[in-house]
Amino acid sequence: MSSKRSTKEPSGIDRDLTSYGDMEFSRYMRRAFLASAGYDAADLDRPVVGIVDTSSDYNTCHRQMPELVTAVKRGVLQAGGLPFAFASSSWNEILTSPTTMLYRNLLAMETEELVRAQPMDAVVMLGGCDKTVPAQLMAAASADVPTVMVVTGPMRTGSWRGERLGACTDCRRYWAEFRAGRMDEAEIREVESSLCATAGTCAVMGTASTMACLCEALGLMLPGGAGPPAGSAERLRHAVASGRRAVALAGECLRPSDILVPAAFRNAIRVLAALGGSTNAIVHLAAIAGRAGYRLTLDEVDEIAAGVPVLVDCKPAGSGYLEDFDRAGGMPVLMGELEQLLEPEPRTVGGKTIGEILESAPERGAWQQTIRAMNDPLAAAGGLRVLRGSLAPDGAVIKVAAASADLLAHRGPAVVFESPEHVATAIDDPQLAITPEHVLVLRNAGPVAAGMPEAGALPIPSYLAAKGVKDMVRVSDARMSGTAYGTIVLHCAPEAAVGGPLALVKDGDTIELDVGKRRLELLVEDGELAARRAEWTPPELPKRGWRRLYAEHVMQANEGADLDFLAERDD
Ligand code: FES
Repeated sequence: MSSKRSTKEPSGIDRDLTSYGDMEFSRYMRRAFLASAGYDAADLDRPVVGIVDTSSDYNTCHRQMPELVTAVKRGVLQAGGLPFAFASSSWNEILTSPTTMLYRNLLAMETEELVRAQPMDAVVMLGGCDKTVPAQLMAAASADVPTVMVVTGPMRTGSWRGERLGACTDCRRYWAEFRAGRMDEAEIREVESSLCATAGTCAVMGTASTMACLCEALGLMLPGGAGPPAGSAERLRHAVASGRRAVALAGECLRPSDILVPAAFRNAIRVLAALGGSTNAIVHLAAIAGRAGYRLTLDEVDEIAAGVPVLVDCKPAGSGYLEDFDRAGGMPVLMGELEQLLEPEPRTVGGKTIGEILESAPERGAWQQTIRAMNDPLAAAGGLRVLRGSLAPDGAVIKVAAASADLLAHRGPAVVFESPEHVATAIDDPQLAITPEHVLVLRNAGPVAAGMPEAGALPIPSYLAAKGVKDMVRVSDARMSGTAYGTIVLHCAPEAAVGGPLALVKDGDTIELDVGKRRLELLVEDGELAARRAEWTPPELPKRGWRRLYAEHVMQANEGADLDFLAERDD
């Protein structure tokens, strides 16, 4: 158990007093001001449960969060606690420029300090959209106050002309059709109004859903909390139960440091592989592990993932949606199917160990095919791979489960784009004469250069798309959306902006991808590379503010892209 706070410390509203140099005065002042909000001793002698509320008009995925806050409060009150909801910032993938990843660490730092500085015996963190949950998990690991995670839940699917569809794998598929000239303006506008049918996070196994599932795998969410759709009765019941559980957790003093042990992260990697989940989760897990004092390496990720088949048939690796996953039993059924691979010892926020949860895991229903059996997987083990080589000495990742089998061993000439903006303006230029054999290279999109946007899934040039080309090898120091697909090598480390080999690639250089051998090579003579390096100059950093602080302190993707001064616990 953590030594950060003992049970003998002041609790409830009396903990973490404001510093006036007179503790009794601080207590008296606190109660006086709380009296102004209608609280009396019957309220103020209860355990306090903070509730982090990330609702925002800018975050459509969190649209129904106020209802969830109310539900959590109901659970806290039922169990004899005193709920205090408080707002933190909230970053929506689609409405944040240039990328939410630039703000994940800011939200993590903000949440940690809000939890640390305000009196609470436990906290329920309400997140959902891609970066909110990782940031909250990082904050939970650092603040080390008993924590229960709750998410908004995924969207339900919509339909267009009889076809079922949901954000955002279908967003990309239809956009590619539009770019290829196979859909007209009126049709893409119709699709646009059907893709996001309800409140909630993206309807496929993108980053938000992956991270929600990993909350359960890590043990920081009550079982069954990842899957229920936003707005469903089950989602509300889960929120109420989480509020109740938070009160008990405060008494038990079960902290994230008791739960986020190395075996919990190894289990999370196994679940990630079985989900066919988002490559972004690798970066987030490394960052969360770093906060918990554990160095999760890419080699460890590769080794663990290599032994786990893809079991979940959800887009983008498969064909279903999160509502199918939930109907099939969600994480409790998946973890039951993975029982032989999971380490049973880690404790969980519900009070049981993973092993105890698995003892009562529901049977996988033979009536469904969304969660496949171990002996009938959707795809063989190795759905996520780590690559190394002269183009990525510190590693890169590829989601094999969402790639084209015929491109996994490929050699081709590079076409280099200097930034995501350069891609946007030049990719369709016929003068580049790009062929399907080319390797599209994007640089200066890593953590230091650009906050690591989801720009790694470069579009297929429209003149090739019109001829039916659907996939090409793409290589970058960027990330890609968890909803994207293709033969896309991401997170090349070190990134170009700090002098990684990606900075030295020139148009026409030969690049070799060999996923079987886990290699990514730039086939250029050492002497030539040395000459290019001598001429290379690093890009200018942003001049001021958060972006300056971020660029000066962010670590590389293989280390989780956390800020270096936040990565270690301060106890
Ligand atoms: Fe919020 Fe996809 S945009 S989860």
